[in-house]
Amino acid sequence: MCGIVGYIGNRSAIPVLMDGLKKLEYRGYDSAGVAYINGNGLEIKKTKGRIEDLHKILPFPLPECKIGVGHTRWATHGEPSDRNAHPHACGGVVVVHNGIIENYQQLRSRLTSEGHEFSSETDTEVIPRLISSHMEKGNTFEESMKKAVSDLRGSYALGIMSGNCPGKLFAIRNGSPLVIGVGQNEYFFASDIPAFLQFTNKFIFLEDGQICMLSRDDITVENLGPNGSSKKARQSSGAKVVEISWTPEMAEKDGFDYFMLKEMYEQPRTVRDTMSEWLDNPPKMLDSLGLTPKMVLGLRRLHIAACGTSYHAGLVAKYIIEALAHIPVDVEIASEFRYRDQLIDKNNLFISITQSGETADTLAAQREASKKGAFTLSICNVVGSTASREADSVLYTRAGPEIGVASTKAFTAQLAALCLIAIALGMKRGRLIAAEAETLINQLKKMPSLIEKALASGKHVKDIVGRIKGSRSMLYLGRGINYPIALEGALKLKEISYIHAEGYPAGEMKHGPIALIERGLPVVVIAPMDNLFEKTLSNIEEVKARGGKVIVVTDEPGLRTKADEVIEVPPAHPALSPFLNVIPLQLMAFWSGVLNGTDVDKPRNLAKSVTVE
Ligand code: G6P
Repeated sequence: MCGIVGYIGNRSAIPVLMDGLKKLEYRGYDSAGVAYINGNGLEIKKTKGRIEDLHKILPFPLPECKIGVGHTRWATHGEPSDRNAHPHACGGVVVVHNGIIENYQQLRSRLTSEGHEFSSETDTEVIPRLISSHMEKGNTFEESMKKAVSDLRGSYALGIMSGNCPGKLFAIRNGSPLVIGVGQNEYFFASDIPAFLQFTNKFIFLEDGQICMLSRDDITVENLGPNGSSKKARQSSGAKVVEISWTPEMAEKDGFDYFMLKEMYEQPRTVRDTMSEWLDNPPKMLDSLGLTPKMVLGLRRLHIAACGTSYHAGLVAKYIIEALAHIPVDVEIASEFRYRDQLIDKNNLFISITQSGETADTLAAQREASKKGAFTLSICNVVGSTASREADSVLYTRAGPEIGVASTKAFTAQLAALCLIAIALGMKRGRLIAAEAETLINQLKKMPSLIEKALASGKHVKDIVGRIKGSRSMLYLGRGINYPIALEGALKLKEISYIHAEGYPAGEMKHGPIALIERGLPVVVIAPMDNLFEKTLSNIEEVKARGGKVIVVTDEPGLRTKADEVIEVPPAHPALSPFLNVIPLQLMAFWSGVLNGTDVDKPRNLAKSVTVE
C-alpha cells in the first residue's frame, strides 16, 4: 500500500525523503514522488515507476531545502501514471495520502461545480482542492486544512505542506498508519518505523482523528473535532514518545542479497527472542497479559482472526490450543469475521495475529470482538501499532522489522508466541500435566537449533527447484497440524514466484485435486513421522500412480525410496513439527522466485501491510 514520508529539520531534505521512501518500498508501489520547498518556492517531482526513476528526474545538483514530503503510490483510483502519482497540489498546498477517500466522487462533483479542474483520476486530489476551496472563502491555511479533513470520509494518513507556510509540516491520521519520528531539532513522519530508523528510535504513534504540526523546534498534537475544530491532545492520547529497540541495521540486508533470505535465516534468533522471557514459566505470561486465573478457567471459546500468513499461524494454533488446553478455537480470515454475526461474549478470548498491527480487516475484527465484550489479545510484531494499542493486551513477537513482503520470520515467531499461550492455558486449566509441559518446553528450547538444521537444506532445496523449473502449477498436501503448513507453502509460492499452487488436506485430495495430477506435476507432501504418517504414505502412492513428481518434507529418511525428492527436517514433537516443516517450503518459494526472475522482496501487486479493506 502507499507509503508517505515527511521531513523538517536542518538536514538536506531530499536525500532524507528519498532514503525514507526507499525503506518503504516493501509496502508495494507503482509510482513515486516528492515535494519540497526551496528558495524558488514549492517544487514537485513525481513519476510512474521506481524510486530509481524518481532519482533520474530530480534536479542536479539537488536543491538546498530543509522541508519536504514524499510518497510511494500503490494504485487504487486511477492507473499507475505520472499524473496520478502523488504529491497532488492546488493553490500552493501539497498533499501525500495513504488510504482511500470514500466520498471523493461527491467531493469532486462539488469542487468541479466550483470551477476546479482535476488533473488526475485519484481520490486524493480532492484534498488539496478542498483546502484551497476553504482558503478562497477567507479561512487561513490551517483552518482550511482542518475543515477539509472534516469533509472527508474513509481512511487516510496525510502529509500536508504549503508553499506559503514554509516552516511547518502537517501529518493527519484516520485509519491508516502514521508515525512521527522525534529527533534533535528535526522531525519526521512516515507510514512505518523503518523509514527513519537511522535518524531516530523515538516515535509518537498518532491516534485516529489527530493532527500533528511539525516545525523545526517543536511538535504539537491536536484532536480534530467536527467542522474544523480541534483541541490539544493530552500525553496519554497520542503525544507520548515511545522509544523502540529496533536498530537501523535490523532493517538492512546485512550482506544477504534479499531481505526474504536474510529474514528466513534469522528465524533461529527470532523464535528464541520471542519465547525467551516466558519459556521457564509460561503461566506467568498469562498473568502479565492481564488474563486472570478466573478468566482463564472461565474461558469457553477462543476466537482467532488474521489475514494471509498470520491466518495460517492461527490455524496451526487451533490444533495446539485445543490439544493442550481443551478450549474450542475458531479461526477465521479477518475480512470474513467482521461480516458475520459473531457469537462472542465476555467468556471468550479473542486473539488477533498480525505482524504489522495495521492490517485493516484484522483491526476491524478486533474492534468487533471488543464491542461484543471479549477480552482482546493481539499477537503483534510492531510496538505501538494500532492493533497493539487498541487490544486489551499484547504479546509481542520479537522478530524485528520484517521487510520482505512475503512473511517468514514473523510466521515462526507467531507460532512461538501461540505455543506459549497454548502451554500456559493448558497448565493453568489443569489440562496439561507437568511432565508433558516440560517435554514441550524442553523441545521449544531446542527449537532455534532445530530450525538452524532445517535451514541447512537451503542448497538442496535450490537444486530441487532447479529440477522442477518450468512447472506452472504445484500442489501442497499436509494432514492435521501440517495442513495449514501446506496452505502456507502454497501461499508463499504464489506470492513470490507467481506459480499457481494449491494447499490441500492430503485426505481431501481424492475429492477434487487428484484430477489435476498429471505426469510431472510437482506435489509437495509434508509427511512427518506422526500418527498420520501411514495415511500420508497412501497419498504419496496415489500421486505417484498418476505420474506426479513427489517432493516430500519429512523426518523419516526411509521415504527416499518412495519419493522423487526428499527434503529432510529434524524430528520434532508432533505439536511442534510445523516450525520445521515450513522452513523448506519458504526456501522453495524463495528459490522459485529467484530462478523465475521475480522481484522476490517486492512481488507484483502485493503490499506488505494491507491498510485498506
Ligand atoms: C499481506 C502480506 C502478508 C501478511 C498479511 C497479513 O498480505 O503480504 O505477508 O501475512 O498481509 O499481514 P499482518 O501484518 O496483519 O500479519
